[in-house]
Amino acid sequence: MARVLIIGAGGVGNVVVRKCAQNPDVFSAICLASRTLEKCDAIRDDMEHPIETARVDADHKDEVVALIRRFKPDIVINVALPYQDLAIMDACLETQVHYLDTASYEPPDTPKFTYEWQWPYDEPYKKAGIMALLGSGFDPGVTNVFCAYAQKHLFDEIHYVDILDANAGDHGYPFATNFNPEINIREITAKGRYWENGQWVETEPLAVKDVYDFPEIGPKDIYLLYHEEMESLVKHIKGLKRIRFWMTFSEKYLTHLNVLQNVGMTSIEPIRFEGRDIIPLQFLKAVLPDPGSLGPRTKGKANIGCVFDGVKDGQRKKIHIYSVCDHQACYREVKSQAVSYTTGVPAMIGAMLMVQGVWMGKGVFNMEQLDPDPFMEALNRHGLPWQQRELPID
Ligand SMILES: NC(=O)c1ccc[n+]([C@@H]2O[C@H](COP(=O)([O-])OP(=O)(O)OC[C@H]3O[C@@H](n4cnc5c(N)ncnc54)[C@H](OP(=O)(O)O)[C@@H]3O)[C@@H](O)[C@H]2O)c1
Repeated sequence: MARVLIIGAGGVGNVVVRKCAQNPDVFSAICLASRTLEKCDAIRDDMEHPIETARVDADHKDEVVALIRRFKPDIVINVALPYQDLAIMDACLETQVHYLDTASYEPPDTPKFTYEWQWPYDEPYKKAGIMALLGSGFDPGVTNVFCAYAQKHLFDEIHYVDILDANAGDHGYPFATNFNPEINIREITAKGRYWENGQWVETEPLAVKDVYDFPEIGPKDIYLLYHEEMESLVKHIKGLKRIRFWMTFSEKYLTHLNVLQNVGMTSIEPIRFEGRDIIPLQFLKAVLPDPGSLGPRTKGKANIGCVFDGVKDGQRKKIHIYSVCDHQACYREVKSQAVSYTTGVPAMIGAMLMVQGVWMGKGVFNMEQLDPDPFMEALNRHGLPWQQRELPID
């Protein structure tokens, strides 16, 4: 039985807290803390299971330390924004409490997400006898576990990996993002990057396009992006020759994004407006629909998974492992759309395996470094069943 502190009361935090509450035999006490206390209280008031709430500004390590000392959690689940990762990791180190997040650290003024800032915590965490699990969402997260599972059970060597993230949900708005708009738009407008033959190859933003026919969704335009799980997977997958990440975007979405970019609304450079500095992207976030409000309106499915191409017993094989998630079914269960759901469920599962001692270690871990089997089994039990299909060799 463990006490869990969840930081961040946004779309993902809402799912994590409700999924932890569904497992009271694992999580005996839950505290939801965030910058805006009212958001935590609104979630608490909508739940039957009792939880505590607290206000914390997680940009300040000392505030997190004080909260940890008061609530005494066994683990902190960080589902605030990537900007808070280091302050929360520092607070966990100081109080010797296990840590988990779903997105790698990114400095607010530099749109570059990488594990380079978090991996150096490995030694201090080892010395303190605590564990940090990085990227326990869907992508990163489940996609890393799919890779570990394929490596353990399906292939002797994996040569090519394509991570495919398709969201065919329709929320009815002309333009909205499915998770934090600022983080989402920073990710999409950055240069694309994939890894081939030992090096990173950079592409212009959204310049590489293809079409993929997804099970239960159908054919969709997919665009090559950089995504952080590739940074750790290239270190841990044997025989890898190439890994790429693809995401679906509709023409309507990209047209809006182009216009916003062209007029400067996606910039993170401060501009002077009516006597004060504002950041255009933060202003844009304020006028776009709150991703947390999309749940009741979003219809359709998401399909996220990995296509592996490699060799088993001397034979070439191509296998797709994926999970399909229905937006409306998620809303019925936890009052959220599928994008927050597919992130929040793996965060809960990662924390559950850690506090149960199944996935316990000392230091900093990416998901594929741990045994995939208990995680794969838990996905089926906790709302994200996965499927596997063999593909023809082309
Ligand atoms: N791995 C994956 O598959 C995946 C997928 C989607 C998202 N994510 C990650 O999940 C995280 C949460 O995303 P989301 O969609 O839930 O975002 P969100 O709806 O914007 O929620 C973020 C929450 O964090 C709170 N917060 C921000 N700054 C804070 C601070 N300094 N101290 C305390 N709380 C703070 C916000 O508080 P306010 O309400 O006061 O602003 C908000 O409640 C992000 O890091 C995102 O990158 C991962």
